[in-house]
Amino acid sequence: MELHIVHYKTSLGSLANAVNSNQSDALAVLGFFFEITSSDNEDLEPILSQLDDVHYANSTDLVSLSSNFSLKSILPDFHGHQAYHRYSGSLTTPNCLEVVVWTVFENTIGISEHQLSMLREIFETEEGETPEKLLYDNYRPLQDLQSRSITTSTFHWSYEEELNTGPSQWAQHFQACGGNRQSPIDIPNEDDVQYAENLGFIKFCGYEEMRVHTITNNGHSLQVNIRGNFYISGGGLGTRYQAAQFHFHWAKTSNRGSEHTFDGSAFPMELHIVHFKEEYGSVTEALNHPDGLAVLGFMFKVSSTDSESYDVILHNSSGIAYYGESSNTSFIRLFQLLPIKQENLHFFRYNGSLTTPPCTEAVIWTVFTDPVSISEKQLEELRHLHHIMRPSIPVTYGTIESNYRPVQRLNGRQVLKNFQFSAASRTLSAGIMLSIVICISFWITKNH
Ligand SMILES: *[C@@H]1O[C@H](CO)[C@@H](O)[C@H](O)[C@H]1NC(C)=O
Ligand SMILES: *[C@@H]1O[C@H](CO)[C@@H](O)[C@H](O)[C@H]1NC(C)=O
Ligand SMILES: *[C@@H]1O[C@H](CO)[C@@H](O)[C@H](O)[C@H]1NC(C)=O
Repeated sequence: MELHIVHYKTSLGSLANAVNSNQSDALAVLGFFFEITSSDNEDLEPILSQLDDVHYANSTDLVSLSSNFSLKSILPDFHGHQAYHRYSGSLTTPNCLEVVVWTVFENTIGISEHQLSMLREIFETEEGETPEKLLYDNYRPLQDLQSRSITTSTFHWSYEEELNTGPSQWAQHFQACGGNRQSPIDIPNEDDVQYAENLGFIKFCGYEEMRVHTITNNGHSLQVNIRGNFYISGGGLGTRYQAAQFHFHWAKTSNRGSEHTFDGSAFPMELHIVHFKEEYGSVTEALNHPDGLAVLGFMFKVSSTDSESYDVILHNSSGIAYYGESSNTSFIRLFQLLPIKQENLHFFRYNGSLTTPPCTEAVIWTVFTDPVSISEKQLEELRHLHHIMRPSIPVTYGTIESNYRPVQRLNGRQVLKNFQFSAASRTLSAGIMLSIVICISFWITKNH
């Protein structure tokens, strides 16, 4: 159902004058959609309880709504945020005069099936007229947009192209999304990627510490905000980058889901650990610099057994099933989330961007070759997170089924690798010990 609240321009004096004014903004009509709820919406009762008195068309008796009825009571709960779309249109019934500024809200009003069925019991015909005909299907079909444009109060980007807010639309609202160094990319076959000896390996500092972090559903992914000081250095980064948060990208099924692809092949999920350059002090400031962020990307592969490390994070996911919810993790070591707990990991390097709006081109990308293992059941738990706010009753729609951006053009950018030969010939070193030594030396230089 849709509710229309018709307003006329005050200076035109009356609704009739406004309709006949020929002015394209004579009327302002607000449109609100209804959503089915399991229980009745009490706020609609003042109207629905009077239906018996307007059962037939042209009932001459005027019916008064109870004196404590307010228009405001039937408006949606805006939660402090009105989201609406605006366009120039017409009355939706004859004579269809083109005098309306339309405002159609995303915020919805609740109504039960039972309440809707009451409306379907009133008549399109007058009392005594035969045959009697019930009043329903009283909506006009959609009209052509022609050359009109629709403006939106806020652009809610999404991954759903059908909603016109998906990745192909982002650049219209966020200029950087149409830039030349966008992410993700398809990383070419490793034989065609240049080996850069000077890159060396990424060093992880603090990653082995047991800490509690904050886990949140940001409406686009599961994100863990890192509490405490964790750094990476080495790997050709030049200086230290501090860890701020990590999050995941996945798809409806496991044949896709990663953002980066390797020579055209996708993985079921990708982890991004976002770090900002220490001297910039924060992610926000770092976004103003082309080398502001260092994001580590890790691919996943499906294994038959659950990953214990990831259970620690997913364990909290029911409490963050809906957009805007957050909770604290149990104690975790960031190291546990990585593919192997050592430091000489193989990676690809290129200059790119955030993979979500505003797509800022401020990221030095490090995409690791070794995948992390996770079970199909654990992936399924992530796919059940919702991008909508928690409704009064649990729902199965509105889930984040897919949240990866398609690969972007390379536009002549260089991709480098820190390894000469593939995984098999790698020498293992005492990675964790090494990282502790490095952290202490940083700590000493920082405090003296
Ligand atoms: C209601 O009354 C108007 C004016 O008398 C008339 O034109 C219209 O056909 C009537 N509607 C119905 C459904 O009978
Ligand atoms: C998480 O823990 C911190 C510090 O102990 C506390 O301030 C915060 O309220 C907690 N957050 C949640 C969502 O429980
Ligand atoms: C990234 O950009 C910086 C600054 O322009 C440049 O020095 C560096 O070589 C680039 N890295 C790659 C992998 O192209």
